[in-house]
Amino acid sequence: CVITYPKAGTTWTQEIVWLVCNEADTEMAKTTNLEDRFPCLELPVPGIKTIAKSPSPRFIKTHLPHGVCPPDIWRKGAKVVYTTRNPKDVSVSVYHFLRLLTATNFKGTFSQFFPLFADKWAIYGGFWYHVLGFWKRRDEPNILFMTYEEMLQDTPKAIRKIASYLEKDLTDEQVRKIAFHCSFDQMKNNPSANMSWMQETGVWKNNEFTNNGGLMRKGKVGDWRNHYTQVQSEEVDRLNREILEPHDLSFVYDL
Ligand code: A3P
Repeated sequence: CVITYPKAGTTWTQEIVWLVCNEADTEMAKTTNLEDRFPCLELPVPGIKTIAKSPSPRFIKTHLPHGVCPPDIWRKGAKVVYTTRNPKDVSVSVYHFLRLLTATNFKGTFSQFFPLFADKWAIYGGFWYHVLGFWKRRDEPNILFMTYEEMLQDTPKAIRKIASYLEKDLTDEQVRKIAFHCSFDQMKNNPSANMSWMQETGVWKNNEFTNNGGLMRKGKVGDWRNHYTQVQSEEVDRLNREILEPHDLSFVYDL
């Protein structure tokens, strides 16, 4: 199970996990949509029926917060990879995503969006409690905590870490192949991974997709500096201090 707060690097982690578990079969990854290989638990398409029919070990993505995740995830020995990302970059990415989605059709500015995120109501509940719920289980054997920043800083190292956790032996060539296939530019131009079909079906708005690059928007650490005011930045720092730092969780904001 790949579990994340939205925009923390879900798609990227899914593609790496799937390739690690499927002998770096990039041909299959390029020809089958990621949602079909790695369906989302709470979305109707392709849906829970697809998950139920998948042969074991099956691949499940979810953004559900810890408190509402099915307890069987923990009881039946599923392997969880939880990826998180610094909340300033997450909020910027969520903001652009809510503009992209036809269903939410958000038209406000980042300053209008920011209080929704900081008040912890933007999407899937609050970022801070989402991370904390899983972070508290980080020492259990069936969860691996990853960060977007460590994946970007050294992708081959992150791939090896995931492979070791999933008990998969990869050759250096397979690691290189996965790292190349999962680089930002490759995934941005890969219709099986970039979810561009959502544009074709109207789930996403064409103008936002064209202007802002769709799901694969920038793929950087530190884009928050182009959106945040000093006051907003201090507000996130305060929330981190209050909620996460007592639990020894901190983030990287620049690489
Ligand atoms: P940005 O909006 O900051 O560009 P999710 O998959 O959880 O929805 O996350 C989407 C975010 O991850 C987007 O961030 C997207 O660009 C980034 N992303 C997706 N694939 C990536 C990759 N291969 N390398 C780096 N960033 C990636």
